[in-house]
Amino acid sequence: MLRDRLLIVESEFRLDPLRAVEGLDWTEVFGTPGPVEVEIGIGKGRFLLAAAELRPDIRMLGVEWANHYLRIAESRAVRRSLENVRFARVDARELVQQGIPDDSVDCYYVFYPDPWPKKRHNKRRFFQPGTVDHLARTLVPGGCVHAATDHSDYWSAIEPLMDGREEFIRLPEFGGDRFPLPVDEPLTNFEVKYRVEGRNRYRGSWKLRP
Ligand SMILES: C[S@@+](CC[C@H](N)C(=O)[O-])C[C@H]1O[C@@H](n2cnc3c(N)ncnc32)[C@H](O)[C@@H]1O
Repeated sequence: MLRDRLLIVESEFRLDPLRAVEGLDWTEVFGTPGPVEVEIGIGKGRFLLAAAELRPDIRMLGVEWANHYLRIAESRAVRRSLENVRFARVDARELVQQGIPDDSVDCYYVFYPDPWPKKRHNKRRFFQPGTVDHLARTLVPGGCVHAATDHSDYWSAIEPLMDGREEFIRLPEFGGDRFPLPVDEPLTNFEVKYRVEGRNRYRGSWKLRP
């Protein structure tokens, strides 16, 4: 019974991964017009679902590679009857580089992306120059990237990478005016856990120049 439900959940909310990386048409994906926001690496979806529930007029895509997390997020979306969320089980870098149309995303959220701490694995990180080129290409003018990590070495790569890009202006504070949730509350499942463990938190927000 539960298995049947999960299969239905997958087909109802989840994008075909091959079509997603070939190129998305947001109206086709959501069936409605409106602004689009994308969260990269949603885990169990705490942030995505809360933000979508609060703002039914914003269309939100959650990208996650781990199927077990994605299924949890999908079943929670069904339970909350959220019609403005969709999910994609794809490599987020591939999706951003190949699947997302120019000038079409209002906001990216990238919270606690895998840090790939070994030097030889750094190239697997989400934040690298090639991906940032595509964040800039796909954001609408004035669109934002919000990022957080607990990993100081990764942050010391993200911060200069984003600060150094002419296309982006850093917001004075993480979140800025249009952020959907209170920034001082734990936003994601990892943030809840990290707060209990007392880990460092590094966060920043950047806006694409209008
Ligand atoms: C450290 S967890 C953080 C999850 C969530 N953002 C949070 O803060 O609770 C990183 C997440 O990114 C996902 N992930 C890692 N690499 C990915 C990729 N290339 N594409 C999509 N998701 C990825 C992982 O499966 C994992 O759920």
